Amino acid sequence: MKTALIAGCRTPFAKAGTSLRELTAIDLGKIAVREALARADIPGEAVDQLIFGTVVHNPTAPNIAREVGLAVLPKQVPASTVSRACSSANQAIADGVNLIELGLADVVVAGGAESLSHIPITVSPWMATALVESAKARTLSGRLAAFSGFRLRHLAPQRPEIAEPTTGETMGEAAERMAKENGISRAAQDEWAHRSHVLASRGFADGRLAAEIAPVYLPPLYETVVDRDNGVRSDSSLEALARLRPVFDRKYGSVTAGSASPLTDGGGAVVLMSKRSAQAHGVEPIAWIRSYAVTALDPGAQLLQGPAYAAPIALERAGISMSEVDLMEMHEAFAAQVLSNLQALGSDDFAKRELGRDRAVGHPDPERINVMGGSIALGHPFGATGARLTMTLAHELRRVDGQFGLITVCAAGGMGFAMVLERA
Ligand SMILES: CC(C)(COP(=O)(O)OP(=O)(O)OC[C@H]1O[C@@H](n2cnc3c(N)ncnc32)[C@H](O)[C@@H]1OP(=O)(O)O)[C@@H](O)C(=O)NCCC(=O)NCCS
Repeated sequence: MKTALIAGCRTPFAKAGTSLRELTAIDLGKIAVREALARADIPGEAVDQLIFGTVVHNPTAPNIAREVGLAVLPKQVPASTVSRACSSANQAIADGVNLIELGLADVVVAGGAESLSHIPITVSPWMATALVESAKARTLSGRLAAFSGFRLRHLAPQRPEIAEPTTGETMGEAAERMAKENGISRAAQDEWAHRSHVLASRGFADGRLAAEIAPVYLPPLYETVVDRDNGVRSDSSLEALARLRPVFDRKYGSVTAGSASPLTDGGGAVVLMSKRSAQAHGVEPIAWIRSYAVTALDPGAQLLQGPAYAAPIALERAGISMSEVDLMEMHEAFAAQVLSNLQALGSDDFAKRELGRDRAVGHPDPERINVMGGSIALGHPFGATGARLTMTLAHELRRVDGQFGLITVCAAGGMGFAMVLERA
């Protein structure tokens, strides 16, 4: 594979219900796509397809990609929405790569957006049935009869859960279970969370993170600007983290609000091109996409362990080994998940038992993993995180003059995603 990554950018990431709460996922997607195109110096007319990821869909606009495209691109550009939980933007990018590699497109904009400030809150199943029955009835008495048996509890609103539909387990409970099964201590989780904030603060202080962000001017007056992620704590301390109470297993647990990625609003997008098209437009790629892999495991097993399965496949497809990876960007759903995956990648036993390999896949030294922090500090708008990871890795590979970079993402449903980039 050799698809060119030309440019990318993202909105700031903001904790749900805070500075970006007035903007929908479509609004956030529009800002990211418009800015990514401007940074790529490509006119909208050159775009063949827009592919966009989101997880919590807006029932009135389920194809978010088309809504974003209609606002930002010529109306003739087709657009499709993909959903692969926390790796949705990664999947959008992978789909773009597929189109380009197959010769079906030359220029693809891919990314994703999420607004957890705008989750669809629906009526109870009983009320939904009654409303449908009532709408079908031809007489007033028929319409009223649809509501016979009504109880006050039927008015209770339904919120989407971050839980596995098959097992009922939430992501946080799964992370807690992984911490226990893999022996990941509370102190190790707090240390990883602390490092995420320290490195993210450093990334803002020296301008590397700010360089990836398209500032958002807030409606209606467009006078207030949001230009940085508001979850990053420049005053992070291990002592403060140690004081937090476990959230998902209050009695025996170790996962806290501090070692979990927060619920977040944000959008991100990248511009992908065939080599031929990049040359024709006279634009310089920042990286080449060399491979990707997607895996899935039983959600009842270690739900967020997907990266440990996907990474070796992506590396093999790129024709490289882990020792050649200069930088790694891991989505941090929870510190317990990051540390569990690093443990599995470093384990001969896991390699033999789960991957049918002789020895451990390995991983880069922690100093080369998430060098500007991760989702714990920066935030995690489900549909957009993949665009952030891809862009951060591509830019950072150039800064450190590395050659290969690896992205890993765990996703609901027991899925794992990995992608290999090569510096251009
Ligand atoms: C864990 C979770 C429930 C916490 O939600 P929350 O309680 O709204 O979180 P808050 O940001 O309000 O933090 C709770 C408290 O911890 C404190 N805190 C959080 N992170 C901290 C840190 N790094 N250092 C010090 N204190 C911290 C907050 O200041 C807050 O304190 P307060 O109650 O005195 O105001 C929520 O973020 C969550 O569900 N995360 C997981 C999302 C998920 O499953 N994603 C899918 C993964 S792929």
